[in-house]
Amino acid sequence: MSRPRLQPTDLRSHRWFGKDDLRSFGHRSRAKQAGFSADDIAGKPVIAILNTWSDANPCHAHFRNRAEEIKRGVWQAGGFPMEIPVLTLGETLMKPSTMLYRNLLAMEAEEALRSYPADGAILMAGCDKTVPALVMGATSANLPALLVPAGPMLRGNWRGQILGSGTDVWKYWAERRAGTLDECSWREMEDGIARSFGTCMTMGTASTMAAAVDALGLTLPGASSIPAADSSHSRMASASGRRIVEMVWEDLKPRDILTTEAFENAVTAAMALGGSTNAIIHLIAMAGRAGASLDLDRFDALSRRTPFLANIRPSGQFLMEDFYYAGGLRGLLDRLRDCLHTDCMTVNGQTLGRNLEEAVVCNDEVIATRERPLGPEGGVAVLRGNLAPNGAVIKHTAAERRLLQHAGPAVVFRNYNDLEARIDDPLLPVTADSVLVLQDAGPLGAPGMPEWGMLPIPKKLLAEGVRDMVRISDARMSGTSYGTCVLHVAPESFVGGPLAFVRDGDIIELNVAERRLTLRVADEELAHRRAQWVPRDVQYPRGFGRMYAQHVTQADRGCDFDFLEGTAPIPEPEIH
Ligand code: FES
Repeated sequence: MSRPRLQPTDLRSHRWFGKDDLRSFGHRSRAKQAGFSADDIAGKPVIAILNTWSDANPCHAHFRNRAEEIKRGVWQAGGFPMEIPVLTLGETLMKPSTMLYRNLLAMEAEEALRSYPADGAILMAGCDKTVPALVMGATSANLPALLVPAGPMLRGNWRGQILGSGTDVWKYWAERRAGTLDECSWREMEDGIARSFGTCMTMGTASTMAAAVDALGLTLPGASSIPAADSSHSRMASASGRRIVEMVWEDLKPRDILTTEAFENAVTAAMALGGSTNAIIHLIAMAGRAGASLDLDRFDALSRRTPFLANIRPSGQFLMEDFYYAGGLRGLLDRLRDCLHTDCMTVNGQTLGRNLEEAVVCNDEVIATRERPLGPEGGVAVLRGNLAPNGAVIKHTAAERRLLQHAGPAVVFRNYNDLEARIDDPLLPVTADSVLVLQDAGPLGAPGMPEWGMLPIPKKLLAEGVRDMVRISDARMSGTSYGTCVLHVAPESFVGGPLAFVRDGDIIELNVAERRLTLRVADEELAHRRAQWVPRDVQYPRGFGRMYAQHVTQADRGCDFDFLEGTAPIPEPEIH
């Protein structure tokens, strides 16, 4: 379906550059100050390239080059590129968590797009929170936008063994703590586990979110699967630059694409991939910005009906590079056609179904067939019960099956410092049947809901050969993590959720098949504990942290700021 095309005088940027007034004189003269002639700008769509490159983000080390490749495409298509650096959110270095700052980047992106003369936007993102943040900001700004995903890094290598970032770090760190891995081997792994620029190459949060946004229709089809170091990635960047210019003329905006059905496609893709639990929080927040309907129960329903097909770590065996060679996301989605809304519009102006024509899968070991899926349902389950009245989640495909129905006595850690101080204490009263509980690790308690949810196995149990046990917290966990970890318990303990009232020795029952999480303590006793509970003050007396504490929502609502949710229109600057 062809859309009516805009005229040059319809462009937002015309208000900056096209008028015969004092303000426009200033804008044009300052563009000339930067070396551009009138012909470079006149009547052309201005494409803001929001670049999350910095020295603090090794996953985006190639973004300087990619920005130039995007600009090449923009020029070729008759646009005017304008690169704007935005908050980098380097996952590996920021403390306590990049999640504390996701909404800050979303706000920055929205305000940058609104305040500068942008007609359209390229979103350069990849490392975990940068993808949802830029999508949230661009959705609220609602200018034509297209995301260029950073792409996964190459496979890791150690003595001929293939290593996956994150996942194998957790695995071999447990061996190091158990005393079965020497320092020399550990150092060699450090050299070989991150071999190129790009995002984590397991099905962690970055790969999951890039795939989800691809399935949403906000990237060129299949772009999320291309390894960062593959020359196809450069060509995808230039093609994205060419396409965004056309999107401006077609006036194809995020909210034309981000429908409830499109979000259901994204959830379906994430579940078939065995994707990160973090996708739940981010997709709910993104849907909230688009006015689409998505909640935990819908997530769980979609997960139950979606077969698990992608054999990628941490739930499977392979890595993102293998996934790309096997056919990538387009191949996987083609195998899920009957679970998808194939009539959803995407950024290339075609429907999702049209984009899947000619998709192929050439390795059934990496992308399983529908006849022989890796599992009958998606990787994430939503739990409820008196311990999590507003929900909790578990990535059950990355857990030991025997623990998916389990009851055991709680061993409670009041916060992360308490955990660090006592987890390896030889006198800790813990057995393989215990349930480890971490409090004060949620959106407000930590604050920032860090990825502490894969609590370490106590050293004395590691020595006995234990490699998994039930762990419960209001934290998140890295998408590269694994184990029987119940996460995102809501409401969190800091605000008086029932998790705050668990005591050592209380019996906790987990039943994933029935989606239950139960604290076997009588209601009267819980009421008594609640009455004795003394809330803590928020940690920040001023600054961004103060604003965060006043406005962040709980995990089941996506941890957006309450004043950023929704689609209420914001006035355009200087419209008279
Ligand atoms: Fe950047 Fe994993 S640390 S994607």
